Amino acid sequence: MRETVRISDRQIEYLNLIAELMTIRKRGEVPLAYVRTYGCQQNVADSERIKGMLKVAGYGFTENAEEADFILFNTCAVREHAEDRVFGNVGALKNIKRRHPQILIALCGCMMEQEHVAKRIRDSFPFVGLVFGTHCMHEFPELLYKSLVDGSRVFVRDNDDSKVYEGIPTCRDGRFKGWLPIMYGCDNFCTYCIVPYVRGRERSRQPDIIIAEAREMIQQGYKDITLLGQNVNSYGKGLDPRPTFAGLIGEIDRIPGDYWLRFMTSHPKDCTRELIDTIAGSEHISLHLHLPFQSGSDRVLKAMNRHYDRAKYLDIVNYAKERIPDVSLTSDVIVGFPGETYEDFQQTLSLIREVGFTSLFTFIYSPRTGTPAAKMDDPVSDEEKGRWFRELLAVQEEIAAERCASMVGRVEKVLVEEKAKKEGRLCGRTSGNIIVEFDGDDSLIGDFHNVKITTARNWILTGELAE
Ligand code: SAH
Ligand code: SF4
Ligand code: F3S
Repeated sequence: MRETVRISDRQIEYLNLIAELMTIRKRGEVPLAYVRTYGCQQNVADSERIKGMLKVAGYGFTENAEEADFILFNTCAVREHAEDRVFGNVGALKNIKRRHPQILIALCGCMMEQEHVAKRIRDSFPFVGLVFGTHCMHEFPELLYKSLVDGSRVFVRDNDDSKVYEGIPTCRDGRFKGWLPIMYGCDNFCTYCIVPYVRGRERSRQPDIIIAEAREMIQQGYKDITLLGQNVNSYGKGLDPRPTFAGLIGEIDRIPGDYWLRFMTSHPKDCTRELIDTIAGSEHISLHLHLPFQSGSDRVLKAMNRHYDRAKYLDIVNYAKERIPDVSLTSDVIVGFPGETYEDFQQTLSLIREVGFTSLFTFIYSPRTGTPAAKMDDPVSDEEKGRWFRELLAVQEEIAAERCASMVGRVEKVLVEEKAKKEGRLCGRTSGNIIVEFDGDDSLIGDFHNVKITTARNWILTGELAE
């Protein structure tokens, strides 16, 4: 049973103390924070809460680290490449600290939950003043205040994942697209994955609190709300009475308004027909299912500890295709898991062909210290894995192009998000999360508009306003 507690008044009081302190130090000028987020949406959502607290403490935000008073990197440990990028970028802060000694540099997030990483920061990056792990967010005000006041280095890691903290202010990055965490942590222990070690055990937020937050977002004008969890399908475990994810999303769907509801990530082992039926019968849930399969080979899936096989995966996908005729399927896939053979890899390719994904997030396996897979025999060379990876990308590109080409001539409801990088067009997404570009006025940004699809270029659609 997980306890739901409010962030303490003492922590809120620290935010006031920081505001007073910084007013004096900055002589009334607004102190600035530079917050950089690595990794998944869970981290983005955490950063939004940290920014919420900083805002209450009187901070403004900047995209320019040089002019910041406080620099925070919220880090990701999921693959070696992610960690290398963080180390590289933290190293580059040394010069900023030399030029502006009064700056406070802090690191938080998943990487900091690993003992060897915290040690490396302590030993080799003396200009980093504050380090805290993923379980300490509710203590951030106190940690920040202490670092500002006494100037000594603060390192905190707390393994207590028994509580769910509510009442932390949030400052969302987007005006009309927003993240809504419904649970934290993960209990699945896929053998390649570091997340359960750095995020702790799975714990769900109370349904009434989530529904109230969703209602507030809809009232504030959010048009695209994504419910977040490492495995949303096991939502409710540990709550009494136990709610189900299908029940929760069904209830949010009943809130009136013009908006889309999305969710990620859905683990195939717990993806139920009830959930598919809920999507099919809903008014707001997008016609998009992100269902990571990781591998098409039963042998590899077993070694990954995924608790489903190819047949079960295809069964749920086929049910989704039957019940939601236009469903857009996306997925994550890992190439080169330890012991994977070329034959196993061919099974992955055949699954990709059979399902016809709109898009894929593709990763080459990266060993993570402390996970079971890191100790498994891994005889295939990096070059060979690289070749498989490129082969997979080529197959997926063909499938995505076909999928997009089949949409030409249709009129799609699109949430207009921004100006496209090239050619000054507008850029938005369909309910299936497919990118659409078209000519139009900037005033259309932030709302739904109908677009007639005229051409498909790889995985991007182009069209014209159809109103
Ligand atoms: N909870 C989500 C995924 C979170 S991590 C789920 O179960 O689907 C996002 C993706 O990163 C995973 O789906 C997986 O494809 C990839 N990933 C995780 N650990 C990895 C590793 N060690 N090497 C390569 N890819 C990895
Ligand atoms: Fe990692 Fe598996 Fe948990 Fe996803 S479900 S976060 S892949 S352990
Ligand atoms: Fe990375 Fe942590 Fe997310 S390891 S992928 S930021 S949960």
